[in-house]
Amino acid sequence: MRTDLCDLFDIDVPIFAFSHCRDVVAAVTNAGGLGVLGALAFSPEQLELELKWIDEHVDGKSYGVDTVMPMSYAGKDEGLGKADAKTGEVDAGVFQNLIPDETKEWIERVLEEYEVPPLPADTASDEGVGGGSTGLLGWTDGGGRNHVDVALRHDGVKLLVNALGPPPKDIIDLAHEHGVKIAALTGAVEHAQRQKQAGVDIIIAQGTEAGGHTGEIGSMVLIPDIVDAVAPTPVLGAGGIANGRQAAAAMALGAAGVWTGSVWLTVEEADVSPLVKEKLFGARPKDAVRSRSLSGKPARLLRTGWTEAWERDDCPGTLPMPLQYMACSEAQTRIGLAARKEGAKARELVGMPVGQVVGRLTQEMSSKDVIYQFIDEFVETVDRLQRSLDAANDEPERGPR
Ligand SMILES: Cc1cc2nc3c(=O)[nH]c(=O)nc-3n(C[C@H](O)[C@H](O)[C@H](O)COP(=O)(O)O)c2cc1C
Repeated sequence: MRTDLCDLFDIDVPIFAFSHCRDVVAAVTNAGGLGVLGALAFSPEQLELELKWIDEHVDGKSYGVDTVMPMSYAGKDEGLGKADAKTGEVDAGVFQNLIPDETKEWIERVLEEYEVPPLPADTASDEGVGGGSTGLLGWTDGGGRNHVDVALRHDGVKLLVNALGPPPKDIIDLAHEHGVKIAALTGAVEHAQRQKQAGVDIIIAQGTEAGGHTGEIGSMVLIPDIVDAVAPTPVLGAGGIANGRQAAAAMALGAAGVWTGSVWLTVEEADVSPLVKEKLFGARPKDAVRSRSLSGKPARLLRTGWTEAWERDDCPGTLPMPLQYMACSEAQTRIGLAARKEGAKARELVGMPVGQVVGRLTQEMSSKDVIYQFIDEFVETVDRLQRSLDAANDEPERGPR
């Protein structure tokens, strides 16, 4: 399973694993792949602690950090979402003022329907998804830049990944000065070409099957199209890859490795609630729906009462990034708290971004076993294909038809 990317990052197998959970990142890196920590939900201070922990648990091996610096979001052209030059703070208040009352009132009505109580006054700031925070997270340029600054202080970080477009040119240059490679996710050939021109080192061609933000083209079509369009730039295949057979398929399409997300949600090390894991184990591919209800941009999520509510006729419609997540973050915290009670109606609202491979997630395994299973299955698959080639070669030569 070795490709040039293994030498580039000093890893055994070109399996790249996205996770918001440091334990998964470290476990994948220790098993020979490359773990990449999603920084979006962390403050710069918290990210520093997470990376320090990873440094202490990977024995000098390489890992990566994933940031979100979207090409477009509400207010970007007017200069909103930049970090203050002195404090590094990003002003969330200006965005909060842009959230319509109609949306807030409608969310409140949905919460009432599902018997979700108000946020208790003593809710800790780290409680749930948006507890105590504004929900702005790292969805803007400024937030992403703060994450990059932290990431580049850690020698183990050898890869910076950006979602929703190439990172700004100065960030690419800065990463390169630190000897750090840049990868960017894309779901369209034109975007991949733009990313290559911008100086991105590795393109992640992500098919619509993927969990999280995703485009409309399936991996089977997208991966070879992007491989051809950006050659010789290496491409990671993504979207719908949770095992060695799928990895072999992506690499047969020309990918130099695979970028995976959903498969890490149900591993032992994942910091995912038992309720969500149970829902994931019971879900089928069609339960992973594309919805704007999380961030305002289309993202594949587990179908829940929440995703369904945003499709209803009485829904005022989703808001552009970053307003949608900000409008919903307190609600998400309240849902998470209410769902702790066995039998609570709020449990119907609890979900998670996940891709169509959810149907393959049927049991909890260690991250290491997932990697080893990937490798075994990859070898079996390539052997099987090789045998079919050998059989064809062994056939007695046919005469002209
Ligand atoms: C729960 C979850 C959260 C995600 N969050 C992010 C994110 O913050 N940044 C990002 O670049 N990609 C994010 N993604 C997308 C993954 O990086 C990856 O591209 C995707 O999961 C690959 O497809 P797969 O889910 O079929 O493996 C997320 C995916 C999942 C499942």
